[in-house]
Amino acid sequence: MVRIAPSMLAADFLHLGESAVIVNRYADLFHLDIMDGTFVPNISFGFPVVEAIASVAEKPMDVHLMIVHPEKYVERFARVGTSMLSFHYEAAGEQSGEVIRLIRSFGMSPGIVINPDCPVEKIFPYLEDVDYVLIMSVFAGFGGQKFMDTTYDRIRTLKKELDRRGLRRDIEVDGGVSPSNAPALIEAGATMLVAGSAVFNSEDPAATIASMRQRI
Ligand code: DX5
Ligand code: ZN
Repeated sequence: MVRIAPSMLAADFLHLGESAVIVNRYADLFHLDIMDGTFVPNISFGFPVVEAIASVAEKPMDVHLMIVHPEKYVERFARVGTSMLSFHYEAAGEQSGEVIRLIRSFGMSPGIVINPDCPVEKIFPYLEDVDYVLIMSVFAGFGGQKFMDTTYDRIRTLKKELDRRGLRRDIEVDGGVSPSNAPALIEAGATMLVAGSAVFNSEDPAATIASMRQRI
């Protein structure tokens, strides 16, 4: 089953509750982007906002860490009710295996993320241990960027390696995803679609999620 994860970064922060209702009713996951101003040149939101969403969330929270030293915050994200926690390979490097084990030790589902300029092969050593791989289709740091077409080949490369090793892992795609590129992403092998501006900047977010679902 393909899951749709609206990115709350694109929600109207003055009416966050209304955006949460849309996710609860029509989508599968809350995608929460955590940026530290160091790993990426932007700062998003922190625990007060995550906790506010957690207090109304009926769907699991999929937290995407764009921070240095992700290991420092694993426990706190577990404590606020995170189900899926991903971190960037570029941030953890050789420590990635340990971060994955730490995430799992707190009962969360671990995911590893790579930016568009990181060769997919770099994360092959971790495929056994993660539950999902997040392939960025824009450079992490900002919502509303243009989807990069190189993503399709990267998904195919990953899918081929997973199939070769007989591993069933989710492939999540994040950045510039919309109802128009969703079918080709699924065709390439993606199983989780993150969409921020396509959903929340549309006239009717519920209808946009529905149309995305209809096409995949
Ligand atoms: C970018 C974030 C994305 C972003 C997606 O660094 O990881 O999740 O919010 O937003 P759109 O769908 O607008 O590209
Ligand atoms: Zn994200």
